[in-house]
Order: sequence, then C-alpha cells, then structure tokens
Amino acid sequence: KSSQVPREQGLDNSLNLLKEGYLYIPNRCRRFQSDIFETRLMGQKAICISGEEAARVFYDTDLFQRQGATPKRVQKTLFGQNGIQSMDGEAHKHRKKLFMSLMTKQRLKVLTDITVEQWQASALEWEKKEDVILIDEARKIMCRVACKWAGVPLKESEVEQRASDLGDMIDAFGAIGPRHQRGRRARLRSEAWTRQIIREIRSGKLKPSAETAAHAMAFHLDLNGKRLDTQIAAVELLNILRPIVAIARFIAFGAVAIHQHPEMRSKVASNQGNYRQMFVQEIRRFYPFGPFTGAKVKKDFTWRQHPFNKGTLVLLDIYGTNHHPNIWERPEEFRPERFQGWEGSPFNFIPQGGGEYDMGHRCAGEWVTIDIMNSSLAFMTKYIDYEVPAQDLSINMARMPAMPKSGFVLSNVRLNT
Ligand code: HEM
Repeated sequence: KSSQVPREQGLDNSLNLLKEGYLYIPNRCRRFQSDIFETRLMGQKAICISGEEAARVFYDTDLFQRQGATPKRVQKTLFGQNGIQSMDGEAHKHRKKLFMSLMTKQRLKVLTDITVEQWQASALEWEKKEDVILIDEARKIMCRVACKWAGVPLKESEVEQRASDLGDMIDAFGAIGPRHQRGRRARLRSEAWTRQIIREIRSGKLKPSAETAAHAMAFHLDLNGKRLDTQIAAVELLNILRPIVAIARFIAFGAVAIHQHPEMRSKVASNQGNYRQMFVQEIRRFYPFGPFTGAKVKKDFTWRQHPFNKGTLVLLDIYGTNHHPNIWERPEEFRPERFQGWEGSPFNFIPQGGGEYDMGHRCAGEWVTIDIMNSSLAFMTKYIDYEVPAQDLSINMARMPAMPKSGFVLSNVRLNT
C-alpha cells in the first residue's frame, strides 16, 4: 500500500542537500506542505521530519536508536568514533550521567568566572592591534576556557594549534574536499593529544582536581565496572573541549545581531528584565548552527499514517523547527522579546536537540553554552568599545556549519575603565 507521504524524486539527492544546506529540509516541507517527506541521501532512503510533533516522536528512545545513524565522514571529523553520540539504552544513560555530573551549578559558576577572566586578558592584547577577527579570537578564548575548566594543561605556545584543530573538526561537518580533510587531520592530532592526557592522569603524572572533565573521563567506570578504553576516554574528553570552542560561532553571530540591531546593545549591556538571556535564546533560535540530527528506526511503527520501517534513517530538522511557522510568530524576525514569558516544551525549541537530558541525546552542554554566551556578550557590550569596519557579514546558508563570511572584524578595541 502506498502512503500519502510526499517523496522527492531522484536516485540520490545528496547534491541538493549540499546546495541548499540548512534550507534543504525546510524548502521541501514548504513545497510539499508537509512536516514529513521521503528522499534518498548518501545512498539510502531517508525520512525527513520537522516541527514539534516530529521532535516528540524522534526523541522516543523506544522507537529510535543512534547506533549506525551517523555517517563515517561525520564520525571521522566532528564526533569521533564510538563516543556517546552513537550509544543507546542503558549504556548511553550511564555515559550521559557522567557528562551531566560535570554540569553542576557550582561548576558552571567556575566556568563563567574563567570565561570573564579570559576575555579580559585577550582584550588587553587587542588594544595593541588595529583589528582582530572575532571568531578566531573567540575560538582561542574558548579553547583556553575549555582546557582550564576541564583540567587539561595548555601551554600558551599550544593555544593557536589546539584552537584551530578544535575549530576545524567543527568546520568540517558538512564539508567535502579540503575542509573535510582538514577536519580529519585535526581530529587525529587532537585524539593523540587527549589520549596522552588520559594516560598521564592515570599514571599520576597529571593530577587534575576530581570535579574536572579530564579526571572524570580518566577514571569513569562503565557498566561492567571497567575504565574506559584510552581511545574512548580521549574521544569523550574532546566531546567536552570541542563544543566549548564551538560556542565561538554563536558569539560571532551575537556580534552580528548587535551590529545589525544597534538599539539592542544597551539592553544587552544593562540586562534589564533579563534581556540578555532572551537575546542569547534568540541567537540560538535564529542563526543556523545544527542543521538536523539523525537516528535509525529501532522497530516498525506508524506516524501520520506513514510506516517507519526498522533500520530507516530519519533526519529531524533542527533549523526548520526553530523557524517553524506553527511554533514561532514571524520566525524570520530577530526579536529577543519573543522569549518573554515564553512557555517552551522540550520539543519546540531545539537548537541543541530536544527531549530530556538524562534519557535521550539532547546536548549535554546546553547550560554551558547559554552561560558562556551570556558572560561573553556581557563583556562585549559592557567592558569594551569597538568599531565595525565595512566587511561582508553575509551568511551562506549552504555552508554547514554557517558563519558570518568575514568572521566579524572588530577594529580599535578599547577597554572601558
Ligand atoms: C549533543 C548542539 C555545545 C556536549 C548535541 C546535539 C546537538 C548539539 C544538535 C545532538 C542532539 C541530538 O542528536 O539529539 C550543540 C551546539 C552547541 C553545543 C549548537 C553550541 C556551541 C555543547 C557544549 C558541550 C556539548 C558546550 C559540552 C561542554 C554535547 C554532548 C552531546 C551533545 C556530550 C551528546 C549527547 C548525547 O549523545 O547524549 N549538541 N552543542 N555541546 N553535545 Fe552539544
């Protein structure tokens, strides 16, 4: 029996995905007037789904699994192999507990203190320069912050290389060709680095404090009561360091938003009515970062009269759900006030995934991201002045991950005293 679900024609539509990027799923949902359609991507059938109800079904762990869902090219750049992203069931829950144990209020406070201290130190250096590229500077700041918070030693002479490697793994996720190759090399070098850190912690040569990620990954016991394989521990430590560096992108988008809506600057600075938090949420909703996430059907079921057969790849539209007309009023407007008194569900605002933290695959670092963005934007609006020279701030929606073309150049940076 044939279902009513629209199907995109073609033997393989991976090229369309590369051409349209973040808009690939939303464009087809609009054209088909449907939150579900079928296509073929990367040589296999795929079902794309979008919106709140779609997210609700996608995060049902009885129906979906992650094992086998992530393409090798993404594992070899962004995620690493056999880390938390590809785990299921009890083993996943146990590993997730390890990640979430690092996210206490107290540890988040330590993190924001480090963040402010690192912005201050860097801004002092920028005063001596004519201009700086914010996304590059923010990557280096975030790299220092991430290592310090995670208990990973980092020499000043290493910062450039480590920050660019961590950045390159992220920059590779939707790339083919040289940008993908750069991501692979960056991952190999970074895993060698964190394997060495894990070994030195286990041998007692390094002694990070017990509440740090480095300590946790080195001494975590899996469900069999055994320590993680050195390689897996190295991958999981990078699953803390790398995404903190990724926050540099949201910071650059935040600078774009302030520049293009100058009236918001003083509100972000004064934080009246918790404006800065709303501004941070709107950045995470509005700007493109995660395009979609994928899982495989674990057992046959039916949704919206459409059969989902075991083993089928399903992509949940992250960008499109954050711009879905049934959820958001005038979604293409940047308007932080929309978050005033906002009653969210775990499924309708999903820049870092949806559902529950402990049970599903929702991002372990969402609070880290929000707090670091908040402190960083406070710093940028309160403690420095800068000029924004003419530059290309356009965002190419086909490039995954996206960024403002120029990386956001600041000139004449001055510390406010
Ligand atoms: C998972 C986005 C920052 C750690 C995810 C997922 C997304 C995401 C989309 C997958 C959700 C899913 O497949 O269901 C982002 C974005 C960030 C960010 C856009 C902004 C920079 C962070 C930070 C950390 C982190 C700062 C850690 C400090 C993780 C981990 C997972 C994850 C460990 C895997 C969770 C699991 O599989 O259970 N993130 N993230 N992320 N993120 Fe983030």
